[in-house]
Amino acid sequence: MNTALCSSFGSCASCVLGSTYKSQKQLKIARTKELFSGIWQACGFAGECCFFETNESGFRSRAEFRLWHDESGVHYAMSRADKKPVIIETCAIVDAKISALMPRILEKINRNSSLKERIFGCEFVASSDEVLAILLYHKDILSIKTELENLANELKISLIARSKGKKLVFGSEILNQKITVNSRILSYKISPDGFIQPNASANEKMLNFVYSKLANHNKKDLCELYCGHGNFSVALAPLFSKVLATEINKASTALAKQNAEQNGVKNLEFARLSADEFAKALRAEREFKRLKHLELSSYDFSHILVDPPRAGCDESVLNLMMEFQNIIYISCSQASLKRDLEVLAKTHKITDFALFDQFAHTNHIESIVLLKKIKFLA
Ligand SMILES: C[S@@+](CC[C@H](N)C(=O)[O-])C[C@H]1O[C@@H](n2cnc3c(N)ncnc32)[C@H](O)[C@@H]1O
Repeated sequence: MNTALCSSFGSCASCVLGSTYKSQKQLKIARTKELFSGIWQACGFAGECCFFETNESGFRSRAEFRLWHDESGVHYAMSRADKKPVIIETCAIVDAKISALMPRILEKINRNSSLKERIFGCEFVASSDEVLAILLYHKDILSIKTELENLANELKISLIARSKGKKLVFGSEILNQKITVNSRILSYKISPDGFIQPNASANEKMLNFVYSKLANHNKKDLCELYCGHGNFSVALAPLFSKVLATEINKASTALAKQNAEQNGVKNLEFARLSADEFAKALRAEREFKRLKHLELSSYDFSHILVDPPRAGCDESVLNLMMEFQNIIYISCSQASLKRDLEVLAKTHKITDFALFDQFAHTNHIESIVLLKKIKFLA
């Protein structure tokens, strides 16, 4: 990133790496090698750590901005390193549909005192086909319902407004996302009420990477934890006899079922359970009504796929993973990944380690690790 790409670089604390993209890539690979070299040795990994690049701009499909009021009106703002606001006109890293909408919606808000008053935030979500805006207010949004509806109609977008304990939706809060995996075009419904992969192009690369690696494995059934709206489940289901996927978020689980259906995937079942609950259910330590529609003993799992939040996996989940022949671990935090791999190294070796750059100009990096069982615990 440099000031030619974004005039706010250096003051806005969102993008922090000022070097060329080539140097950023080298930095991320070098840091990964330094952090994981001990684990790689312990897990017998001598292969190459692959790196999948992202675009340098226009890659973010979800973005949140503060809205800052001064005498000239309302402005988009990001936080500086000291959390103070820095006013921005544009953002180089957001999806082109978000970039195009940003000035249009702000202009309309500035022209309407009811829409402008006590607004404090604006979020955007873009899919391959659509863009959605979410306006955040420190006042009762029911008092400006008509103005919000007119705004959505004039801009021809779906709009959500939120204030304490209230939500209004104009249009649809579900977006349609197309992703190509193994030359198959998949169609997903995604919602801001659940997790959405923040970089659609990086997500497509991750799905294709895992798909191509698993294509050569001996496979039976797949168990997936933290499945969200079925991003990996739907894409990988054709590789397995059966797939059982679980997720804690109610909205995401409901979408996951729809996503399987609309892509004609018939060998996939979902259950709304935390990863810890599912680990207990699989060990027959607890029974859950939410699993009544499934015969757990009918599954013959050869693989487990986990994509946990930043905190990584709990001890109960790690213990469960150690029982599987093959593990696919997708991680957005190298710190928790390292901690968890130290446990998994007791039973598994690493066969693949890949980095996916989801956010250029930041220190963030997504990792995908494939592991194979080397021994059974007594
Ligand atoms: C990083 S996202 C991955 C989602 C999905 N794999 C994808 O690619 O879109 C993590 C997911 O874990 C879910 N989650 C968070 N805590 C959980 C828990 N304790 N048990 C099960 N799922 C959880 C979140 O709701 C979220 O959907």
